[in-house]
Amino acid sequence: MFKLGKLEINNKVVLAPMAGITSSGYRKFMSSFKPGFMVTEMVSDMGLIYDNEETKTYAMFEKSEIPVGVQLFGNSPENLAKAALICENLNPYIDFYDVNMGCPVPKVTKSGAGSALMANPLLCGQIVKAIKEATHKPVTVKIRLGNGSDKDKFIEVINEVQKAGADLIAIHPRSAKEMYGGKPHWELIKNLKNKVNVPLVVSGNIYTVDDAKNALEITGADAVMVARGGVGNPTLISNINKYLNNEEIDKPSLVEQIKYCKQLALLLIEEKGENKAMRVYRGIATKFFDGFPNSKTLKCRLSTELNTIDDLNKILDEYLSSFEL
Ligand SMILES: Cc1cc2nc3c(=O)[nH]c(=O)nc-3n(C[C@H](O)[C@H](O)[C@H](O)COP(=O)(O)O)c2cc1C
Repeated sequence: MFKLGKLEINNKVVLAPMAGITSSGYRKFMSSFKPGFMVTEMVSDMGLIYDNEETKTYAMFEKSEIPVGVQLFGNSPENLAKAALICENLNPYIDFYDVNMGCPVPKVTKSGAGSALMANPLLCGQIVKAIKEATHKPVTVKIRLGNGSDKDKFIEVINEVQKAGADLIAIHPRSAKEMYGGKPHWELIKNLKNKVNVPLVVSGNIYTVDDAKNALEITGADAVMVARGGVGNPTLISNINKYLNNEEIDKPSLVEQIKYCKQLALLLIEEKGENKAMRVYRGIATKFFDGFPNSKTLKCRLSTELNTIDDLNKILDEYLSSFEL
């Protein structure tokens, strides 16, 4: 349906980058729901340059049937290009590079990276150009509207990154100041596709198939990005695909959600080891049970008692059996 460099992306829903969430285990799990492409957690250019072991693991993954982009963050074209070259040597399976131009977190912006880049559209273009020249792979950017009151800054940034050869633009229509709260400003990017000459992806509060449909209709974008809405609700991705193809969508049953929750746990354990995976999972496992009856105690147990896979199996089995009495 659209092209990312030479890659054919055959659907209209992709997996967003999320630090602390979209690790290789999570992506492996989500790949069975068929997003058009997936993006890693953000990876620090300086972490790669200083050969930090943990940073390097973010850029390493096995071959995936679904294209995967490594998202880099930094503030200098030279260092970002160097970091991309390090990734090239670490991992032959990287399909493209994405540059984080939207992260609003002070730890990132105080060094001039993430959304701080949007204050300097020329620099945004120089970064795209430098990574493209270094790797010859497609380069995408993920931006916001702007930093604060400059909610039209995205237009200048888009112009510069397009001139520099960006292969795709993803936009989250909130300002950095708005972080993740309130509603995305779809009205400010109405028909944006008409002003962009590369594939356009939109991100922001995509929790239902209708959210996806509306975002696509308003903006004319080529695809929507699923972020928080897909955590614990992986069929959101397959359902958006089905809905857009006029196929019937399915609501997963409790038994299916339990199955998915256990599957993801095993993949995270394979990736991170049981101890670390289960600590991370305390914040993720609960999301599979939003909207299910009497899930308050279940969620409380999942977020406080998870230390091992046996704990997970026991808590979920007890919850399920409470319906079978
Ligand atoms: C926990 C969390 C981590 C995120 N990490 C990243 C990141 O590393 N890089 C990035 O470009 N965006 C990141 N985002 C932003 C998402 O990709 C997405 O654009 C944003 O959450 C809006 O979509 P949503 O409202 O559907 O969640 C993150 C969001 C969340 C909630």
